[in-house]
Amino acid sequence: MNRQRRWRAATITGMVVVMTAATAVLWQGTSSAGTTLGVSAAERGRYFGTAIAGGRLSDSQYTSIANREFNMITAENEMKLDATEPNQGQFSFGSGDQIVNWAVANGKRVRGHTLAWHSQQPSWMQRMEGSSLRQAMLNHVTRVATYYRGKIYAWDVVNEAFADGSSGARRDSNLQRTGNDWIEAAFRAARSADPNAKLCYNDYNTDNWSHAKTQGVYRMVQDFKSRGVPIDCVGFQAHFNSGNPVPSNYHTTLQSFADLGVDVQITELDIEGSGSSQADQYRGIVQACQAVARCTGITVWGVRDSDSWRASGTPLLFNGNGQKKAAYDAVLAQLNTGQPTNPSPSSPGPSTSPTTDPGGGGCTATYSEGQKWNDRFNGQVTVTGSSNWIVTVTVGSPQRITATWNVSATWDSSGNVMTGRPNGGGNTFGFTVQHGGNWAWPTLTCRTS
Ligand code: XIL
Repeated sequence: MNRQRRWRAATITGMVVVMTAATAVLWQGTSSAGTTLGVSAAERGRYFGTAIAGGRLSDSQYTSIANREFNMITAENEMKLDATEPNQGQFSFGSGDQIVNWAVANGKRVRGHTLAWHSQQPSWMQRMEGSSLRQAMLNHVTRVATYYRGKIYAWDVVNEAFADGSSGARRDSNLQRTGNDWIEAAFRAARSADPNAKLCYNDYNTDNWSHAKTQGVYRMVQDFKSRGVPIDCVGFQAHFNSGNPVPSNYHTTLQSFADLGVDVQITELDIEGSGSSQADQYRGIVQACQAVARCTGITVWGVRDSDSWRASGTPLLFNGNGQKKAAYDAVLAQLNTGQPTNPSPSSPGPSTSPTTDPGGGGCTATYSEGQKWNDRFNGQVTVTGSSNWIVTVTVGSPQRITATWNVSATWDSSGNVMTGRPNGGGNTFGFTVQHGGNWAWPTLTCRTS
């Protein structure tokens, strides 16, 4: 029997899905040069994100750059404690929702920022101490993470809990004064509220491996991992300027944390300066992330220089007129050089066959494999038969789609079913799946709108 030509039918979720090896041509080639930051990063298994300010969503230059270039979104202020719980017990999600909805409508994932922090606390919380504050903090974590459950790729559960300087100790704050275990209590509450979100500790001045603060955070993460405290990732804010330049040991820092068994993410990148010096530093950051298999993505802290919280330092990738700077070109070129950082030829192959769906919907979606890493793989879908397609991509637990390109994507509440529509980029789109040990290929359906 010729297995290449034989059609086989299987019933999956009540639909007849037909699959054929003949149409599932494997797509093993190296990635093409991406023309935007998000596409280039995603084709290589990472994301490239930006912070978005809700107040700028009415600026069409801003939104068109953000939509074109980035595939991960962080709310710059709108999901912080003062925004989400302005009065104790009274939650306010309108501003956060505006950003999450914009992200989801444009096929982007969201980093949640942040659940527990000494700064930007509502005034009622600033006045609290002790067990009532601990209780209020845990309630906040639970309520906000529950509200956004299923919509958040990663939460900055705790932000900036370590002191600057040579102590390597915790920062004094009202939260710290509730007891040293406040951080792990926050992580446990977040895990219960949203078991599928990656839970990160996020901080600044943790870039230089030899700094006491970096070592203090490292020891905390090491301790959490050894005691089973639920932590999945460490965020490096990466706000750089001449007084705090990109350290030459940045790669060592990222790799050392990754070796503890957590993902690392660059969460708020900006580098003050201009021209080739700024471009070189940006390139170095991208290089360092590319060299660490568990560096899952980079987020810059704003779109244009004029959008930055440090606008006078012109620290971003686009100038105030929305034009690409030298730093942008350097980042894109560096992303495009990227190879799989840790290809694992010994990884098990897919445990199911590719699926296509010519099934009566007026179009056919064909899956092909992209690159594979230890923790994730890329897939590509090619649609034939119609240009008004609607493709669903269903992944099996514990898989999560963490990035998409060339598609306008939305997710169901479980996060397992992505519905993709054309975004003007043609009839081929792709995505990255964090597989969590499940190498099964996704199930596809295709219908026309
Ligand atoms: C900044 C915002 O960009 C500003 O708009 C706001 O006024 C202050 O906060 N570390 C963080 C971010 O974790 O939340 C901060 O964002 C920048 C430093």
